[in-house]
Amino acid sequence: PSTSPYDAEMPLDLDLRPSSQPVPAAERAAALADPGFGRYFTDHMATARWTFDDGWHDAAVHPLEPFTLHPAAAVLHYGQEIFEGLKAYRHADGSVWLFRPDQNARRFARSAQRLALPVLDEDDFVAAVEAVVRADAAWVPDAPDGQETSLYLRPFMIATEAFLGVRPAHEATFGVVASPAGAYFSGGVHGVNLWVTDRYVRASRGGTGDAKTGGNYAASLAAQAEARDRGCDQVLYLDGEEHAWLEEAGTMNVFLVTADGELLTPALGSILEGVTRDSLLELAPDLGLTPVERRVGLAELRERLADGSVTEVFAAGTAAVITPVVGIRGEDGTGAGYEQQVGDGTPGATSLRLRSTLLDLQYGRTPDLRGWLR
Ligand code: COI
Repeated sequence: PSTSPYDAEMPLDLDLRPSSQPVPAAERAAALADPGFGRYFTDHMATARWTFDDGWHDAAVHPLEPFTLHPAAAVLHYGQEIFEGLKAYRHADGSVWLFRPDQNARRFARSAQRLALPVLDEDDFVAAVEAVVRADAAWVPDAPDGQETSLYLRPFMIATEAFLGVRPAHEATFGVVASPAGAYFSGGVHGVNLWVTDRYVRASRGGTGDAKTGGNYAASLAAQAEARDRGCDQVLYLDGEEHAWLEEAGTMNVFLVTADGELLTPALGSILEGVTRDSLLELAPDLGLTPVERRVGLAELRERLADGSVTEVFAAGTAAVITPVVGIRGEDGTGAGYEQQVGDGTPGATSLRLRSTLLDLQYGRTPDLRGWLR
């Protein structure tokens, strides 16, 4: 066993301090009626502090409040930060469920190792998320008539030590905040166009592409702006070495559906190991699809879109579940533009079927045979 303080496993003793000034019920109801995404925050948050000498301590669920940070805090200068995203779903009987939070806990621990942050015990991660959901259960929206409303949970960890030397910080703070989320697609699922960027890469081998860290998202903003300039909704990233292999679509994993029934997605390596990605691969056989993880070339995608052997493309993530892709655009080696439609240019039937299969499970409309709900 490691004796590094960064690996210290110490059960969090969560102190519960309920808010004496929760958001008035009418104001909360107004927020839940039209939450959008990431705009409103609940009454409580969880925090825990870590120091090199004492490990984890001061764990509590308490009223949401701003942080005080020293201006030299490592996170502000060197971006030593990680986060997660998962949702709590309200079922028709009023009960509230998390979907595979253990998977987020596992990835959070891996991200911590990559960003040289202290590892939080996976059970503590889940306990902290659960405690926030319990404290803010009133903020989990009803999801009537198949509406995709939920409570989005955002666990994170930042390096708080005031020190300008470049080394793993000796102080860190873990937190969980929660924010009600509306349907990602208001007015029905619609397809997006992807811009195949040749200018930007998301990650390269040995980089931080497989960690959920803020820097990856900061670096994506210019690429996203380029996509918008080109009339597209999101970026399709290629690998960092050869600019030849598919990596991710915006902040999501990318999938192809083939005419012979494969559900094909790029193999892990420099991409994020999405919980939605993993769930879809596991559900695929139930829908008569063969899950395949391997390198997928842009050339293969373009050829197979042209000959019809790739029938659907979609992006998958926690926020939007599945986003159908209806077209790709880019520039070839000579700078000439190309544009290709996916299928008939509308969201594909298999993509929509996978989407509703996952949502039915998350919202308790079909039995949870795999024990994914907690
Ligand atoms: C996703 O679920 O697709 C995400 O990556 C969440 C996003 C808000 C960062």
